[in-house]
Order: sequence, then structure tokens, then C-alpha cells
Amino acid sequence: MKLVLAISGTMVMAACGLSWAVGLPPLPYAENALEPVISAKTMGFHYGKHHKTYVDALSKLIAVSELESLPLEEIINVTAKAKDKEGVAIFNNAAQTWNHTFFWASMKPKGGGKPDGVLLEKINQSFGSYDQFRQAFLDAAAGQFGSGWVWLVVDPGGLKVIKTSNADTPVAHGQKALITCDVWEHAYYLDYQNRRKDFVAAFLDSLVNWEFASAQLGK
Ligand SMILES: [Fe+2]
Repeated sequence: MKLVLAISGTMVMAACGLSWAVGLPPLPYAENALEPVISAKTMGFHYGKHHKTYVDALSKLIAVSELESLPLEEIINVTAKAKDKEGVAIFNNAAQTWNHTFFWASMKPKGGGKPDGVLLEKINQSFGSYDQFRQAFLDAAAGQFGSGWVWLVVDPGGLKVIKTSNADTPVAHGQKALITCDVWEHAYYLDYQNRRKDFVAAFLDSLVNWEFASAQLGK
């Protein structure tokens, strides 16, 4: 843990404005609540197996270390540039733990469609219109080669759609996320097979929790 010892004096509140404990929070809805867009079977595997595995692996990796008592965002930040095997493993599992918790919060039953209020104004300013934002999000999802995530984030110039590969997360780049969609195959393959774009379109049109995104904007 030399890496941690070297930088533990520089801890600051993460740019995302969140401070989450390491752990597996309960899903904010029942496993079947997002049907028919995401099946209970997919949710069961995704939350109960994939997400839990990242949390369990992280807990094991940081047990009895200086990282154990830190918020998840700090663990991500102090390991983001790690090159050693252990540091990379901690980063990957911490980032995937955070990304999944953020993904569950990014959705709700009967969500989706156009947001309103300040968030819609900012989307219009940044993308021209909601439809242009929607297209940018779909294009980013289709353009992500292999596993990863698509995000709406706050950028100095306005809102921006970005994609990250594998476990990478806006938290590690000082960016505040508003929503994310998981585009790892485990997120959609049981329900959509190779039709990733259909899954992401359904996420935008029927599941996005814009109230959660607006709350992030205000943090
Ligand atoms: Fe996932």
C-alpha cells in the first residue's frame, strides 16, 4: 500500500459531490420493477451476481488497509493512476461498485422521455435540443468498443455525453455525472442479445430517472 501512503494527505471531496460507503446498497426498486425494459432475470444476475461480486472483491482487497475507512470516491481517486496489480484491481472493483450503484439510481419504473426545468434548459443549451442529446447518447453507446459506460456529465462548457471503457468512471476524471447507462453485455444480453442500441434507446425512453439527474446537478 505504498501508493496510498504517498497520497492519503490530499483527500478532497470528490467532484461528483457524492460520498458513498463501500457496500452493496439495496436496489431502489424491486428486481421486476423495470420490466419489460429490463427483465427481473437480468436484474437478478446484474445486481445480485455482477455488482455483488465487485463489492465483495473490493471489500476483500481493502480489508485491513488504509483504504478500508475511506468513501468509495476516495478509493477510486487514490487508485486511478495505479500501475501495480493490486492497485489496478482495487480501482477496477471500486469503480465498478460505484458505477453500478449510480446506474441503478439513474433509472426508475416509468421513467424516461424528456426532462424538464433547469436540466432541460441545460440540455437544450449544450446539445441544441433533447432529440440531439438523445442521438448523441445513442451514438456514444454504439461507438463504445467492447465493455463500458455512457454518461451525461457536467463539463466546464456545459453538459456533455461521454463514454468510458471497462471500469473507468467520471469520478476518476473530476467530472460530475448526471446519469449513466451500463453497456457491458451483461447489462442487456439476456433481453436484447446484440441489440445494444435498442437497449439504450429503451433506457432513455422508458427508464431514465431525470429527478435523480436534476438532484446531481444541484450538488
Ligand atoms: Fe454492469
